[in-house]
Parts: sequence; structure tokens; C-alpha cells
Amino acid sequence: MKPDHELIIAAKYVLKHAYVKYSNFPVGAALRMKDGNIITGINVENASFGLSNCAERTALFTARTEGYTKDDIVEVVVTTPKPYLVSPCGACRQVMSELINPDVPVHMVDGENNVVTKLNQELLPLGFSEGDL
Ligand code: THU
Repeated sequence: MKPDHELIIAAKYVLKHAYVKYSNFPVGAALRMKDGNIITGINVENASFGLSNCAERTALFTARTEGYTKDDIVEVVVTTPKPYLVSPCGACRQVMSELINPDVPVHMVDGENNVVTKLNQELLPLGFSEGDL
């Protein structure tokens, strides 16, 4: 599935807001919602490194805050200005597996607009979920 160009533009637009004092590795994420809206997120770091929040989780938590649920998310873009792809980290994959439906495409877009697309369900094989509790 080809990525939605407007979604890529939105994810790249928010890169300038990324708070990346410590890594200098900006990440932007954008979610396309069923109603047409776009929800974005950036990474927000902290001097206590472990408290940093990734762009994907920022976007997903914002979507929840605005009242959206997993059935509203139809497409995801994750991007960085670096000349190589950013692939969602393990923590984000775990959160994505709970808050995004399995068949939703996740596009990873680098600073040169190279794209790799995976379905959400491909990102966390054998993941832990509510069924395991
Ligand atoms: N980062 C994200 O925002 N998303 C990912 O999926 C990978 C990593 C951020 C976390 C940290 O602020 C920086 O990139 C370097 O690890």
C-alpha cells in the first residue's frame, strides 16, 4: 500500500517540535483517522533518559485523549530527517499492538523519502496482549 502523501507531510512538519536535546534524533509520527483528521506526535526527551517518550506513543496517547479508539486509526507514518529509516522501538510496538488494529499499515519514511511499509501485526510477532493475562 502506497503511503498517504499528506500523512508524510504532517509527520515531517512536526519534526521541528521534537525535543531531542540528548539524542539529536528527531522522530515524527502521524496517524490518519477514519474521520479524515490527522493526529501527530514527536519524541520528547528528558535529562532522566528513561522518561523520554517516543513520537509514536505521543501520537497514540493524544489520539486517546481526543476520544479516538483503535478502530479510528487507518494509517500510520513514522519519520526522521536522518538518511535512514526509523523503525518503531519495542516499547512502541507493544503499545501499537494494543492501540492500533493489526491490519493497519505502518509506513517508515526516512529523510530521503524512502519508504518501508509493514502491517501493524507484523511488527510484534508473539506479542504479549490482554489474552495472556
Ligand atoms: N524514538 C522514537 O521517537 N520512536 C522510535 O520508534 C524510536 C526511537 C526516539 C526516542 C529518543 O528520543 C530518540 O528517538 C533516540 O532513541
